[in-house]
Amino acid sequence: MKIYRVAVIGLGGMGNNHALAVQADDRCQLVGGAEIDPERAHVWKERFGVEVVFDDYEEMLDQLEPDIVINSTQSPLHYAPTLAAAQRGIHIFCEKPLARNLVQADEMVQVCDTYKVKLAINHIKRVSLYNNLVLDLITKGEIGQLIHLKAIDKGGRKSGNALIGMGTHLYDWMRLFAGDVEWVHAHLLQLNGQESTVYDIKDAQEMNPKDYSDGLVLGERCFASFRFKSGIHAEAAFLAETQGDDKGYGIDLIGTEGRIAIRESVGTTMFIHRGQRHLPQQNWEQVYIEEEDNDEKGQPRKNRGRLYLQRLMIRDLINAIEEDRDPIASGRGGVASMEMINLTWESHRRKERVYAPLEIREHPLERWRREEGIT
Ligand SMILES: NC(=O)c1ccc[n+]([C@@H]2O[C@H](COP(=O)([O-])OP(=O)(O)OC[C@H]3O[C@@H](n4cnc5c(N)ncnc54)[C@H](O)[C@@H]3O)[C@@H](O)[C@H]2O)c1
Repeated sequence: MKIYRVAVIGLGGMGNNHALAVQADDRCQLVGGAEIDPERAHVWKERFGVEVVFDDYEEMLDQLEPDIVINSTQSPLHYAPTLAAAQRGIHIFCEKPLARNLVQADEMVQVCDTYKVKLAINHIKRVSLYNNLVLDLITKGEIGQLIHLKAIDKGGRKSGNALIGMGTHLYDWMRLFAGDVEWVHAHLLQLNGQESTVYDIKDAQEMNPKDYSDGLVLGERCFASFRFKSGIHAEAAFLAETQGDDKGYGIDLIGTEGRIAIRESVGTTMFIHRGQRHLPQQNWEQVYIEEEDNDEKGQPRKNRGRLYLQRLMIRDLINAIEEDRDPIASGRGGVASMEMINLTWESHRRKERVYAPLEIREHPLERWRREEGIT
């Protein structure tokens, strides 16, 4: 049985979560990390008992020659390390959002294909047993024909940041049930109800200094309608409620003979009702999956099961390497999700349906600004 040597770039919050998952997997050996903040590097090294932490990730890749590198930095540093790892034959597990724009994201996928390495993105909902059960129920026709999805963002942030930060998860979650998108019709608003304009485009950290450095964003509320190639229609709303509420975050799946409601960003709450035309409080049955909710001692998993899901993610990447297939949460899926975000911006700008794929891969907000002569 091959043991995979795994290294981590970026030893902040997610760099700690990923390291825990790696150390919990008997197919993995955590061999080192890279971090530019010496204090964080020291704390992580002590916590995980790892011999060496580098301040230069390329040096780490050259010296440690890991089989897999986990990139848990923020999005400005997703592109270059992916290329550096792929060119060295190292498989990559990258944090979301996949890149700063579609140009980078496309190249990341293409270079990984060229060097025959796997690229996974941390869209952790994909490995949830709940989502797999939902897929199974749909296939078995338990809610009839799936015709409509209603997706609601987590809140607690203006939609500009939420669309890129959480939208990548939410759109990917929609794709899991509905497949590839055909077109988007969207509009973005300011909190006072005015349509967002080119002058409202901001850097994510100008919108909120505490948020991730995810590049240019726009708008404070967002409503987007999608048609998927499967014929399913979907709506996504980013409502900018002042409080984030994970219990409100999720998707209603509406079928011709029933509905499923699925919620939360890490752990999952799921309800199903069979048959139509019930009042909201009637005939909804909560679904529990013991294996996902509770640990081996039957106790609720800590941190809403993040460690459990992260372990499934790393194990899926190993299986993908050994079976020579795409990971469940693939880089290609990361591009598709980012494309839906870009289509949302572009549809707002053009005030019309915009079809996938976007031919111009430049960041739509950068292009809008440039074309209006705003620097
Ligand atoms: N998938 C999920 O469920 C999930 C959840 C939370 C966050 N995230 C994503 O994970 C990413 C990281 O989030 P975080 O909260 O850990 O951020 P963070 O800022 O705490 O950690 C990033 C770390 O990268 C380090 N870094 C920056 N430049 C570096 C370089 N050149 N070399 C090595 N290290 C470098 C920083 O010093 C920092 O310690 C973000 O993109 C975020 O969106 C994903």
